[in-house]
Amino acid sequence: MSVEQPSNLLSSDFLAEAEQCLANGWSLPYSLINNPDISAFERTEIFEASWQVMGVESSVANPGDRLVGRIGGVPVLIVRGDDDVLRGFLNVCRHRGYPVASEDGCSRLLTCRYHGWTYDLTGGLVKAPEMTPCGEGLRAELSLKPISVATWRGCVFAHADPLAPGLLDTFSELETLASGCAFDLSSYQPHSTFTIEIACDWKLAYDNVVECYHCASIHAETLNTLYEADGFEDATWQTGARLASARLKGSDGLHHCLQLFPGNYLVQDTVIGIAGRFFPAGLGRTRLEFNFLTAPDTNPEDADRFVTIWRETLNEDRAILEAQQRGICSGRLERGRLVSGPENSVAAVQQLIIDAYRSAMEDRQDASRQALLGNNADTIETGGANAAVA
Ligand code: FES
Ligand SMILES: [Fe+2]
Repeated sequence: MSVEQPSNLLSSDFLAEAEQCLANGWSLPYSLINNPDISAFERTEIFEASWQVMGVESSVANPGDRLVGRIGGVPVLIVRGDDDVLRGFLNVCRHRGYPVASEDGCSRLLTCRYHGWTYDLTGGLVKAPEMTPCGEGLRAELSLKPISVATWRGCVFAHADPLAPGLLDTFSELETLASGCAFDLSSYQPHSTFTIEIACDWKLAYDNVVECYHCASIHAETLNTLYEADGFEDATWQTGARLASARLKGSDGLHHCLQLFPGNYLVQDTVIGIAGRFFPAGLGRTRLEFNFLTAPDTNPEDADRFVTIWRETLNEDRAILEAQQRGICSGRLERGRLVSGPENSVAAVQQLIIDAYRSAMEDRQDASRQALLGNNADTIETGGANAAVA
């Protein structure tokens, strides 16, 4: 099996130069934006190999409750079983690949709409119309394919690989960060969902959500009315996790924003919570899916007001990001200049992206080497057999 390279763009020389430029105050090169090979590589090697927050435990509290979503391009499904266990599956029918559930909901059986194959909450096939024989052996063989699921402080995460390293093994500082501010969304209740697609590369969206350099100019009437943003950029990444905190304006309440690379965005404050994420949804497209939550003991009007302002803020960001993408895609500039201090957080997330490229490239090279060794072993074996025949 040969392993394709995304392009020569991600050679070790290219990454070393990008890293050097970043250290000197320059952004990632714009050649990484709107490149189909890079985009496909990022989707499969970074996002599809990551833990992604799919929602909150309070949304899947009862048997039959389910969350439907995707990790990169992989459709996934999480369901609460009759035994109270939360399980995750590929949301791909074992018959001919249609999704077995199209949206969040609650049911004791999962029936694929295409031809009616039906699965139970453990993923087992229980009915396949007109298929005979459909004995136990075949039914077991045609169960939904499992994925990894983790719950953590009220949030539900999924990873497309059933053998993925655990969430807390992946983010080894996460517990320490969360305990320091008592981050926990378990007692927060679902308020509403907000989904938008933005015509921009996910990396531009990432730069945007880690800095508040733009808050005074873009969000003066929205986000800036809710929080004191001082010090927001000072938060550092610790093994892929970053905690930034701020005070609420006009009260002594606190706001904590916990980000997990890539794209996970969790918020807890004294009025609302967020279990959200953004991820690439095709070339030059970013999809943002936010679950807004209401904090316990919050006045519902306050929660509504905060959520409305957050939605307006995200729409402001969408307009900015789409215009920025058009400027960058004009192809006239090589890279941007970052401002030391308020944009240290942008440099930090861009370094994380370089690290992710490097690690994924090394994994590919290892896979390539293994494949080559396998082929050589085959050749040697075949050679031996032929020699014996001769
Ligand atoms: S694809 Fe699901 S029943 Fe045919
Ligand atoms: Fe913003």
